[in-house]
Amino acid sequence: MTPPTIAILDFGSQYVQLIARRIRENHVHSMLVSPNVTVEELRAKNTVGLVLSGSPMSVYSEGAPDCRQEVIDAGWPILGICYGMQLSAKKLGARVEATESKEYGRTQFTLHGASDLLAHIPEETTVWMSHGDMVHELSGDFEPLGATPNCPIAAVKHKTRSVYGVQFHPEVTHTPCGAQILRNFLYDICGCAGDWKVGLVTERAIASIRDRVGANERVICGLSGGVDSSVTAALLHKAIGDRLTCIFVDNGLMRNREVDLVEATFRDHFKMDLRVADAGEQFLARLEGVIDPQEKRKIIGHEFIEVFQAQASGIPDAKYLAQGTLYPDVIESGHGHSGQAANIKLHHNVGGLPDKLSFELIEPLRDLFKDEVRRIGEHLGLPKEIVWRHPFPGPGLAVRIIGEITRERLSVVRAADDIIIDEIVTSGWYDKIAQAFGVLLPVSSVGVMGDDRSYHGQSVIVVRFVESTDFMTADWVHVDYELLGRISTRIMNEVCGVNRVTYDISSKPPATIEWE
Ligand code: XMP
Repeated sequence: MTPPTIAILDFGSQYVQLIARRIRENHVHSMLVSPNVTVEELRAKNTVGLVLSGSPMSVYSEGAPDCRQEVIDAGWPILGICYGMQLSAKKLGARVEATESKEYGRTQFTLHGASDLLAHIPEETTVWMSHGDMVHELSGDFEPLGATPNCPIAAVKHKTRSVYGVQFHPEVTHTPCGAQILRNFLYDICGCAGDWKVGLVTERAIASIRDRVGANERVICGLSGGVDSSVTAALLHKAIGDRLTCIFVDNGLMRNREVDLVEATFRDHFKMDLRVADAGEQFLARLEGVIDPQEKRKIIGHEFIEVFQAQASGIPDAKYLAQGTLYPDVIESGHGHSGQAANIKLHHNVGGLPDKLSFELIEPLRDLFKDEVRRIGEHLGLPKEIVWRHPFPGPGLAVRIIGEITRERLSVVRAADDIIIDEIVTSGWYDKIAQAFGVLLPVSSVGVMGDDRSYHGQSVIVVRFVESTDFMTADWVHVDYELLGRISTRIMNEVCGVNRVTYDISSKPPATIEWE
């Protein structure tokens, strides 16, 4: 069942996920594996080629990550990147030493001659470097393929084996020829067919669900309305039809029309068995008077479990709980190499749900990146509005109301959010922004309304737009002033209780994306 796979030996490079994604963008399946992986483990993964990643370490430093010589010698084509090139070259007789000065950023690469790895790239091209060591002297088995001003051996090829290395990073967009180099490696050197495409990936996910879930068993799926849980539900529904029950907990902290969208999509369009737990009043009652953000999160997590559990216990023959864990969640929880269950999402969102409920977990997306999940969502006919939506935090608008959560303050932030989203969709900015929202501050602001000075009950809304690929770091968006102007005017005119709108120009770090 395992598709032909490029195994990426993860030596700790910050770009290792990017390498995996770049390979998959070429329709070839890739997985991160431990540097210590054995030949048998690689065979079991249907490996057709190896990429040796970069690393923050030096090949000569104590405790530097290493791989087994037998893996290098097993005959799979190998592409070493940065540290990976130094390590494979060193194992095959080359001398690696520190450079005189570390090299970061763009530099000019000059090709020495024709080679299969560097076919179809210009003789002079820009590449992106990030290294403190380099290969100083090759053994007679290698030939250099190109150089940069500071790195005379910037790309290599073994004379008799399919072992290649590049000192620069082909996976980053700052290396324009990087995509071509990866394609050369995947197609011409490893002989990949490029069939890791959305149709196949979807069919495999469906087949594996059918294999696992017996004819008399049911699956429960907690729907949040976000892309991951929505695609999980759509896949399961395709696989097992009405043996799936979806539970949507309306915690009262949702955006405008959220419940309507979920009902229209999953119940009306897909005809799924969808149970909506209308628990807004219960959540609001528990949150009354609570100011501390961690306390709010704790209450929301706890209530979620209560409500979900009550709903789930009404579904007697349910054996499985489906959730939308993604490959980055698996990797970031430290389980990317060992294949154990990832916990991160559970703890982040729902606070240990499976510990309390004795379900077996089904995670059909756990090998997939977000862009692959989105493509599956489109393939399964989910609306664009769900597939391409910005992420929304599990505790909902609660993290966007600073201070006490009341019905009135919720309706202020919800109305502001609605205007913000409406304006960025209409102006074509939605897809250029990773996350856009409004935050309600617990301060009153002086203003004039009509001929009067306004103060009491007049609040401030902060508009926050960020761009980010992984949400670990983020920049504020240099958005159009006209758009900001329209949003500000509309919020102040249409949302009762707001007389000031500001724009957040903080990047993460040091700020976070949400204000809490
Ligand atoms: P911060 O504020 O930590 O947010 O920079 C990073 C990303 O995580 C989202 N976020 C959450 N997502 N449950 C979630 O599913 C949560 O409890 C949660 N808190 C923050 C946030 O919206 C941003 O995308």
